[in-house]
Amino acid sequence: MTMTRDEEARAILAQNDRGGYTVPTDGLYPYQWNWDSVFAALGFAEHDMNRAWTEIETLFSGQWPNGMVPHILFHKVDPGYFPNPDIWGGTGPIQSSGISQPPIAATFIRWLLDHDPTQEARARALFEPLKNWHRWFMTWRCEGGAIVVTHPWETGRDNCPDWDGALAAFEPTGIAAYKRRDTSEVEAAERPNQWEYDRYLYLVKLGAECGWDEAWLRDNTPFRVADPTMTFTLLRSTRDLLAMAERWGEDTSEIRNWIAAMEAGSERLWNPDIEAYDCYDERAGTHTGVISNASFLTWYAGVGGDRMLTHLDRIAGLTRYQVPSTDPAHPKYEPKRYWRGPVWAMLNMLIATGLGEAGHAAHAQALTEKTRDMIGTNGFAEYFDPRDGAPAGGRNFTWTAAVWLAWASPETGRTAWAA
Ligand code: GLC
Repeated sequence: MTMTRDEEARAILAQNDRGGYTVPTDGLYPYQWNWDSVFAALGFAEHDMNRAWTEIETLFSGQWPNGMVPHILFHKVDPGYFPNPDIWGGTGPIQSSGISQPPIAATFIRWLLDHDPTQEARARALFEPLKNWHRWFMTWRCEGGAIVVTHPWETGRDNCPDWDGALAAFEPTGIAAYKRRDTSEVEAAERPNQWEYDRYLYLVKLGAECGWDEAWLRDNTPFRVADPTMTFTLLRSTRDLLAMAERWGEDTSEIRNWIAAMEAGSERLWNPDIEAYDCYDERAGTHTGVISNASFLTWYAGVGGDRMLTHLDRIAGLTRYQVPSTDPAHPKYEPKRYWRGPVWAMLNMLIATGLGEAGHAAHAQALTEKTRDMIGTNGFAEYFDPRDGAPAGGRNFTWTAAVWLAWASPETGRTAWAA
C-alpha cells in the first residue's frame, strides 16, 4: 500500500529522530543543525507537541556561555562527517561548530506557544536563552544595524554567489589535506566546488585558532558580510521576542532598541543599482549584486514595503517553480547547484508567511500552491530544480517533510497563518 505524502512526511521525521533531536537527513548530515531543528519542531507540532518543544530545548542545551547558539551540535560523533568537531574546536557545553545560523527560533517558539498555550512554562524558560542569543548578534554581528556573518555557512545559504567576491579576496593558506564527505553522498554537480570548500575550511581554521574570539574576528577576519537572511530573520524574531516580553511583563527597552537598529540597518542591504536587497561585503565596502531567495524575506521582516514585488513577479515568469535561490537572470545562476539556483521549500514558507502578513494573499497563496505541487510531485528532497521541480541533494529531508506538514500539505498545513 502506498503511503500518502502526509504519512511519508511523518515517517521521515520519525526516521530522522535521534531521540530529543532530529538530523536533517541520514548520512549527509548526521547531527543537529540549528534552523533545521526549528523547522523540525513545526513538523512535530502537527502530531506531537511535546516532541516539538523537546527539539528546541535540545538545541538550546548547546548554547555557549557568550549566548551564541551553534549551527551544528555534535551530540554523538559520527566519523563519517567532515569537518569534524576537532576541526571546529567549539567551546560550548556540547561539542559544536563555532558559528551560528539564521535565528528563526523566537518566531516559531511564539508560534508553538500560540498553538499550544498549555506549554507556556516551556516557552517562558526559553525566553532568557533567546534574549542572550539575540544580544550576542547585536553585540558582535551588528554593523550599522545590518547583521554580518563570519562564515558563509552561518547564513544557511552555503555557496550562493554572494560570497564569491569575499572568498576571492584571500588565499586559503595552511589548511591540512582533507577528504570531503558530502560528495560521496550527493552528486558533486549539486554541491559546492573545491575552490569554495578550501576557503570554507580556511575560515573555520581562522575561527578555531582564535578560540572563536568574536572581537578578534571582527577586527581580523577577511570575511565579514552583512546578509539579508540573518538581518531579516533576526529582525523578525526580535519582534516575536518583544511580543513574548510583553506577554510576560519582561523589560522591553533593550529589545525595542534592537528592532529600531535593525529597521534602520536593513537599509544598508538595499542596493540601488539593482533596486533590490542583497548582501554587503563590509571589507570591500560593496554590495554583492545578487538577488536571492533571502532578498524576499523583506515582508517576513516587516521592512521595505513592496519594493521587492516587481522582482518577485519577474522571477515567477522565468521558472516553473519559485523562489529560486539565485535570480535566473544572474550570470551565476546554476539550477542544480545547492544555493546557486535551486528552490528550498522552507525558505518558501518564510517568504509566503511574510507575503500573507503584508496583505499579499494572492502571492502567498500562489507560492503555497507551487510548493505543494513541487513536493507533492517530487517528494521530500533537500532542494529542487526550479525548471521542472526535479529533486536534488539529500532525500528524505527533515525540513521539507516538516514544512509540508506545517504549511504546504492540503490536509495538515496551517495556511491561515500564512495568508
Ligand atoms: C546545508 C544548508 C544549511 C542547512 C544544512 C543542514 O549546510 O546550506 O542551510 O542547515 O545543510 O540541512
